[in-house]
Amino acid sequence: FHLDIDASETDKGVYPYYMLKEIDEQVIVAHTLSQYYFDDNAQIQNIDDDIISAIKAADRLYIVAAGTSYHAGLVGKRYFEQWTGIPTEVHISSEFAYDQPLLSQRPFFIFLSQSGETADSREVLDNVVKQGYPSLTLANVMNSTLTREANFALPLLAGPEIAVASTKAYTAQIIVEAILAHAVGDSQIDLKNELAKTAVEMQVIIDQKDEFKTIAEQALRGQKSAFYIGRGLDAAVAVEAALKLKEISYIQTEGFAAGELKHGTISLIEEGTPVFALLTQSKTAGLVRGEIAQVAARGANTIIISGKALAKKGDAYILPDVNELLMPLLTVIPAQLIAYYATLDRNLDVDRPRNLAKSVTVQ
Ligand code: G6P
Repeated sequence: FHLDIDASETDKGVYPYYMLKEIDEQVIVAHTLSQYYFDDNAQIQNIDDDIISAIKAADRLYIVAAGTSYHAGLVGKRYFEQWTGIPTEVHISSEFAYDQPLLSQRPFFIFLSQSGETADSREVLDNVVKQGYPSLTLANVMNSTLTREANFALPLLAGPEIAVASTKAYTAQIIVEAILAHAVGDSQIDLKNELAKTAVEMQVIIDQKDEFKTIAEQALRGQKSAFYIGRGLDAAVAVEAALKLKEISYIQTEGFAAGELKHGTISLIEEGTPVFALLTQSKTAGLVRGEIAQVAARGANTIIISGKALAKKGDAYILPDVNELLMPLLTVIPAQLIAYYATLDRNLDVDRPRNLAKSVTVQ
């Protein structure tokens, strides 16, 4: 597979499935986005000053989304809080629509959506507009309902995403959230450079996709359930990783905060139960190692995906090192590839899982 894929192309080309094509395209998307929205280069599109000042005027940010986009919000929350200092909540749109939490004095709403048409999110935006609160939509499909009806919109620039299981829209959302939070805040990080470095490392992982084929076949063949665990940003990626695996392979998979294991779920661990652990955050690496040991002691087959600086002998895959805050852009790739290969191994249609639609336009 080559790097020079045209991400706007809707043909599968050499790929057996759109999902694999779209996993590969994440590198190009990340490269493109790392060049956008920065004002230190005349060639580059800036984020409108009005967006920046509207966010700066807010006392709380509300990210609202569904599915994979909601999971991208869980990651983005860290960027907004860390770099802008504005408290940020992330909400599932179908919940928010009928159970609106008490809002702050000056809320600002950020809608995340690949399609821009998700009915649950549209319902929330309708209410937000009626209440007169400012809003911004980050969407892959511009000129969609969510981009038209919000006060502001920014494109994800991921190119058409066809496979039902979302991949490149997720990474694009994380990158645009980072760029936006960085533009609003006054962080010292050279984000443009860090993102460009991350894109290079994404390619390194994607080039090793055969390793994940082996991991998927060894760990998941014949299994009915699996787990993804991690803490902090790794917990945020764990829920997306679990969604990827369960939605296309039909292996019941739970993703959750590793510290919650002991409060109930550990009773599900049996001899051979696959437990994937994501371990990229230095602050909690020791704790997660302990949690891995606890499930291993109860017979789990632990598959550890760790960052280079935190890796130990026996880990299944070692990710290259990038800024810890950007690790989700790397960690999710093994999860996407494991889901893809586990599904192929079961002779299922990767791109069109049963009961699911790419865009859910009914509530
Ligand atoms: C559907 C898709 C998911 C997607 C979710 C939200 O359920 O199958 O992949 O994450 O909708 O869609 P959106 O277009 O708003 O991101």
